[in-house]
Amino acid sequence: MSTSAEKFDREARGEFARLGKTRVHRGEILRHPVYTRFLHWSVAIFFLLSLLSGFAIYSPWLFRWLAPLFGGGPRTRALHPWFGVVFEVFFLFQFINWFAPMTWTRVDSRWIKRLRAYATNEKPLEEEEVGFFNGGQKLYFWAIAFSGVLFLITGLLIWFDNNVARWVVAVSYVFHDLAALVMLGGFIIHIYEGTAHQTGTFRSMIDGTVTEKWAWTHHPAWYKAVTGRDPREAYEREKRRQAERQRALDEWERKQDDLERSPPTHRNRLQETRD
Ligand code: HEM
Repeated sequence: MSTSAEKFDREARGEFARLGKTRVHRGEILRHPVYTRFLHWSVAIFFLLSLLSGFAIYSPWLFRWLAPLFGGGPRTRALHPWFGVVFEVFFLFQFINWFAPMTWTRVDSRWIKRLRAYATNEKPLEEEEVGFFNGGQKLYFWAIAFSGVLFLITGLLIWFDNNVARWVVAVSYVFHDLAALVMLGGFIIHIYEGTAHQTGTFRSMIDGTVTEKWAWTHHPAWYKAVTGRDPREAYEREKRRQAERQRALDEWERKQDDLERSPPTHRNRLQETRD
């Protein structure tokens, strides 16, 4: 990417870091700075506005109830392309912001081959080579990028249909809706991944941080690059710590059971007679 775009991105990060704070406590790592979070949620808001207004236009029969949210049918129609334009603008900035960590590598092609194991949580840890984003996250990003371009071109052709041949507008409708389907499918999976499937991920887009445990579990190469520590060693240490905790808990429970089963001592006999 051009150095002027990178320079713009660096400066924007700096400006936003002054506007908002990210507190990183012990045992946590900074994942998404304020600028990234601002872009992500701006993209998300305008995506949802475009989606909901788009539904109302696409099928008034099914989604008539959505139009009043935007001030009625004609206003929904008028607002929809503008929501789309703002979405595209924010996504362009996000594209510049994430272009480098989203670059596709061989590691990602190998990740895609393990997709099934990933989806079924077959292994407790990601492969050691997985960096800041995994192959699935990159796939989603590039799907948005390509559908975004398709949206923009077809959207403009539909918007300014007076100057375009009728068949071009008709084909644009088909591709506009196909792009929407791709984005919608990706969006549903994305919400599941960012919340229920990988607990501890959602907070990274709220307060900007993740726990070290999250980092060495899901993005070991990134953990190593940031902390300089070995992710497998961290995992083994955590496993030993949990085993020790479990042993201590079992021991305590055993003692409580013994105490309950043992004959009453002088003290609790006294207590019983008082009761
Ligand atoms: C509204 C519900 C949404 C939630 C709960 C959500 C949650 C998240 C979270 C937690 C991350 C950070 C993942 C990480 O650091 O590993 C993330 C990243 C990302 N989000 Fe969202 N997001 C939402 C909507 C959207 C929308 C509407 C878009 C775009 C149309 C989007 C695009 C992305 C992209 C491209 C990434 C980076 C790659 C990835 O993690 O998949 N998100 N999101």
